[in-house]
Amino acid sequence: MRGIWQTGKRGSGPIAIPEKTLSNHCLTLCAIDVERDAPEWYIAMQEPDMHVWTGNRVPDDIDEVRELLLGYNAHPDIMVWCVRDGQSGSMVGTYWLAVPFTSEGKRISVDAQRIAKPFWRTGRTMAARRLVYRYAFEDLAVDAIHASAWEGNVNSCRSMEAAGFELVEVKSRFNAKCGQKLNERHYVLTREQWRRVYHSS
Ligand SMILES: CC(C)(COP(=O)(O)OP(=O)(O)OC[C@H]1O[C@@H](n2cnc3c(N)ncnc32)[C@H](O)[C@@H]1OP(=O)(O)O)[C@@H](O)C(=O)NCCC(=O)NCCS
Repeated sequence: MRGIWQTGKRGSGPIAIPEKTLSNHCLTLCAIDVERDAPEWYIAMQEPDMHVWTGNRVPDDIDEVRELLLGYNAHPDIMVWCVRDGQSGSMVGTYWLAVPFTSEGKRISVDAQRIAKPFWRTGRTMAARRLVYRYAFEDLAVDAIHASAWEGNVNSCRSMEAAGFELVEVKSRFNAKCGQKLNERHYVLTREQWRRVYHSS
């Protein structure tokens, strides 16, 4: 894993910050810079619709967002990029990819993202997915990417389906925000499916 990730000691454990900036004509995905990104992400996170189906909430102040972003950078198991628009430079969102792990003989990663509402369904999410999946399958040599979303998170489910993910399981699980059990949909994007979807368009 070393060599793929910048690893080192920060706080209590190792960290996995993406060492590679990913970019195309539309977007740049770079490592999170807490001081640069927190003010913009604080404004984006004032939109309640962004948090309905996630563990996040509307932050009280910029310090709360700094803590959140610092937490991402200190997390040993995920790499998180700041997604920026290629034209305006505005912060589009955050994108996470798990450090690959082995399960049943396959090399697996997991992804998730938070896209600011003004950028929903503008093509940015798909452009970010393209960059991250190429990195995951080609540079990190993963066999499959797993992801999940609550059934009610129509945006996320439809977005994953449009990106080539296949539904593999629906499981009932307690949702702390709603205070009740809800269905969670589990998806997989295999290398073969990725090739089919992303090399055909
Ligand atoms: C989930 C999220 C990343 C999806 O990104 P998005 O930009 O909204 O959606 P996408 O552009 O990827 O959607 C791709 C396609 O999926 C389909 N789709 C997406 N949302 C849809 C909806 N609400 N209804 C019907 N189809 C939808 C459409 O076919 C769309 O393509 P089109 O816009 O050209 O018609 C984004 O909404 C988000 O960050 N939400 C808040 C945080 C969150 O829920 N993150 C995921 C946690 S699991």
